[in-house]
Amino acid sequence: MVTSSAPGKVYLFGEHAVVYGEPAVPCAIERRARVTAEEIDEGLVVHAEDLKLDGFTVEYTGDSTDLPDVDAAKPLLEASMGYINEAVTQVRDAAGAPDAGFEIWIESDIPLGAGLGSSAAVAVAAIDAGCRELGVELDPEDIADRAYQVEAAVQDGEASRADTFCSAMGGAVRVEGDDCRRVGGVEHLPFVIGYDGGAGDTGALVAGVRALRGEYDFAADTVGAIGDIVREGESVLGTGDTETLGELMNFNHGLLAALGVSSRSLDTMVWAARDAGAVGAKLTGAGGGGCIVALDETDAALTALRYTPGCDEAFRAALDTEGVRAE
Ligand code: MEV
Repeated sequence: MVTSSAPGKVYLFGEHAVVYGEPAVPCAIERRARVTAEEIDEGLVVHAEDLKLDGFTVEYTGDSTDLPDVDAAKPLLEASMGYINEAVTQVRDAAGAPDAGFEIWIESDIPLGAGLGSSAAVAVAAIDAGCRELGVELDPEDIADRAYQVEAAVQDGEASRADTFCSAMGGAVRVEGDDCRRVGGVEHLPFVIGYDGGAGDTGALVAGVRALRGEYDFAADTVGAIGDIVREGESVLGTGDTETLGELMNFNHGLLAALGVSSRSLDTMVWAARDAGAVGAKLTGAGGGGCIVALDETDAALTALRYTPGCDEAFRAALDTEGVRAE
């Protein structure tokens, strides 16, 4: 039996624009998914406990799914099971063991579907644990590629490499189409997360931006301007100039709001963090609900968010320079 963990992520810059070939900079955060794998004679049994869903235990064998009868939890649990199914397919392929059976345990500190890359972290950790259980060591780039295949399969081809590459590699990464690399020299980013307890509909939000971009040249220019922010931000990352990074995050949030992907709760949390003295704050991920990320060395934004109406949870989750690892 072996356990692997992999981090979640925030977008420092560039979500949505990355869909149109602009670069983006996701950063791994100190919140992890842990997956334990044990080889069994046949089939697949999954225990998914404590996925921020009140600690349900899910027993899952082959195609017969016995999910808890809680409507709100079901889609999230079903999605998690889809990622595990595909991850196990990748493990069997990598190990040349098409009939290997597994018992899998999932634990995660990363809120589901909230823009923090929870599914990517589960896929990355599951591939690493499953492969190591079968005696196969993959390097993080291979794990990232296989985890991307998992996301692409579950999301009908609608996945970028950002989340899976970032989770496998750790640190700050730069993603532009299929070109993914670590950004060197970035050791410390004091992120604070505000979470409204909800989740946006990524497909609908991406479709909304696509429609605006098709209808208005200025919306297409806005997407291009987000790309410019990413290029400017890259030149500042690693210099320690957090003031400029914060300014660029604020600008990025304004452009995302202009594209219609913020929400009242996300805007409220962004302003609460800024008013408390954060050097910058923006939504992270698809938007519509979920999380914001603020840059703040002190505890002021964290405390303010905890008292902000509409903020369900606030926590510190600094840059994690380590990607997937054995536990
Ligand atoms: C969602 O986490 C990020 C988006 O840019 C979509 C994507 O890149 O696939 C909105």
